Amino acid sequence: MEVKDIKSYGDLDGDGGSQIIEQVLSLKEKVQAKLSGVKRMIAIGSGKGGVGKSTLTFQLANQLRKCGKAVAILDADFNGPTIAQISGTKDAKFIPGENGLTLPVSKNGIGIMSIGSLVPESEAVDFSSVAQGDSYIWRATKEFSVLTDILANTNWGELDFLLVDLPPGAERCRQFAEFFGKRVSFILITIPSDVSRGVVSRSYEALKESGSDVIGFIENMDGYICNDCKSVKPLFPNNKKIQLDLQRLGGIPFDPKLALMCDRGIADETSEKSPAVQSLAKIAADLLAVS
Ligand SMILES: Nc1ncnc2c1ncn2[C@@H]1O[C@H](COP(=O)(O)OP(=O)(O)O)[C@@H](O)[C@H]1O
Ligand SMILES: [Mg+2]
Repeated sequence: MEVKDIKSYGDLDGDGGSQIIEQVLSLKEKVQAKLSGVKRMIAIGSGKGGVGKSTLTFQLANQLRKCGKAVAILDADFNGPTIAQISGTKDAKFIPGENGLTLPVSKNGIGIMSIGSLVPESEAVDFSSVAQGDSYIWRATKEFSVLTDILANTNWGELDFLLVDLPPGAERCRQFAEFFGKRVSFILITIPSDVSRGVVSRSYEALKESGSDVIGFIENMDGYICNDCKSVKPLFPNNKKIQLDLQRLGGIPFDPKLALMCDRGIADETSEKSPAVQSLAKIAADLLAVS
């Protein structure tokens, strides 16, 4: 199609009648109102993929819940929404209530909002585009508008903690920081390799630039729990060339039982005897001490 009268930006008058600014502002107000009962919002990021963000998000929530706290998780990783599977809420139904969608709840009482409960693994998550074949152009816009809709249309209720499981991508941490604003703090996850620490370090720098509050980092897979002797053995070589100029909140060993429980959707049944769970309990207690 040939467009004959192409306007320059200077010719465009107002919003063309769409009231786009008013609409965005009222959505923002709705999100603000819906989150008004949330005392603390912590985003779990990394920049790196596959380092245990989702696993530790759920386990931290689990420990906070065990301390009697009201906790929910927002799975913001739309392309890899694994919290539904880990928490056993894959088949959860979203029931509309008076004040928005009622949060599905895991067996141990953690509210779970994950697209993994809506879209089965056999289907690609699609940010459908008005420009067919050009979905890359609209990706961030669509993704954050879906996130806004989820925040504005869910009944989050009164929560001590809302944990947000972030997608990978160092510069994406900053996008989420700008999206959530001052209400959110960050915990970064790394594994003990320079390959991972390097990416996490980039994420931290990006977050610093946006003036975000970064609580510290957790070193996941810091050793592994030997199935035979139950002791914690080293997993990665001690090759710390890249140091993170950030508080280390704790180290979590790789626990094969924990991996299995995540796959089976029973990650809330972890044993208190596991050194991984004990480390997480300590991190949760430290978080509560400063809340
Ligand atoms: N400390 C741990 N002990 C056992 N398995 C773990 C641990 N951390 C992560 N895993 C496993 O590693 C895989 C990747 O973890 P995941 O949380 O999905 O990473 P991410 O969210 O960063 O992509 C999952 O199969 C998970 O069960
Ligand atoms: Mg994940």
